[in-house]
Amino acid sequence: MKNNNIITIDGPSASGKGSLAKALAKELDFILLDSGLLYRAYSYCFEQSQNHVKAKNLFLNLQINSIDHQMYVFESSKDITSILRDENIAKSASILSGLKETRDNLISFQRDLASDRGLVADGRDMGTVVFPDAGTKIFLVADAEVRAKRRFLELQNAGQGVNMRDLIDDIRLRDEADKAREISPLMPANDSIEVNSSNLTPQEVLEIVLKIYKENTKED
Ligand code: DC
Repeated sequence: MKNNNIITIDGPSASGKGSLAKALAKELDFILLDSGLLYRAYSYCFEQSQNHVKAKNLFLNLQINSIDHQMYVFESSKDITSILRDENIAKSASILSGLKETRDNLISFQRDLASDRGLVADGRDMGTVVFPDAGTKIFLVADAEVRAKRRFLELQNAGQGVNMRDLIDDIRLRDEADKAREISPLMPANDSIEVNSSNLTPQEVLEIVLKIYKENTKED
């Protein structure tokens, strides 16, 4: 039985998932699950403890709040969300997310966010593993160069200096690692719809996905 209160958006990094998920959550007044941010938060905890049991406890002690259709992470009342967006955390999250312990430690936290309120879940395995019954599943892709340029602008706006060539290489390497891992690899669910955002504005992507969602939830 399909759950129309859940929309999943999976795809490689910087394909536009984050902006799309946020815009959809706002438009439909749904809660947003930014699962990449949870993997980053878990990696941040693991860096401090080097142990999965301790990392899980540290993770559960963080405050993860949804404010204005966005996810924020607080540690002892300090907002650490922007620290978690750092490329170094992204690298360790990419490695740790390949481990069963990490994924097992995060799955129930993610599933518990589903409710009648509605959920937009953004990640790599939202439609395949975490919410296989989601009523609308989108697989969002974009060319690596386009994604590197988006990430470059994001990091530049956040005051982080990066080299474009290094970013393209990093994105390709991370894509390969996300696709090749044994557990929950990045791949489209059988019942997902692929949208390529390379030549589309965020507004155009939003309109396409809203149309798909409305079609899926239309009363027969
Ligand atoms: O989307 P992001 O760049 O914030 O994700 C950080 C890392 O976490 C990335 O390497 C992929 C991993 N990840 C994952 O394995 N599964 C998810 N559902 C979300 C992210």
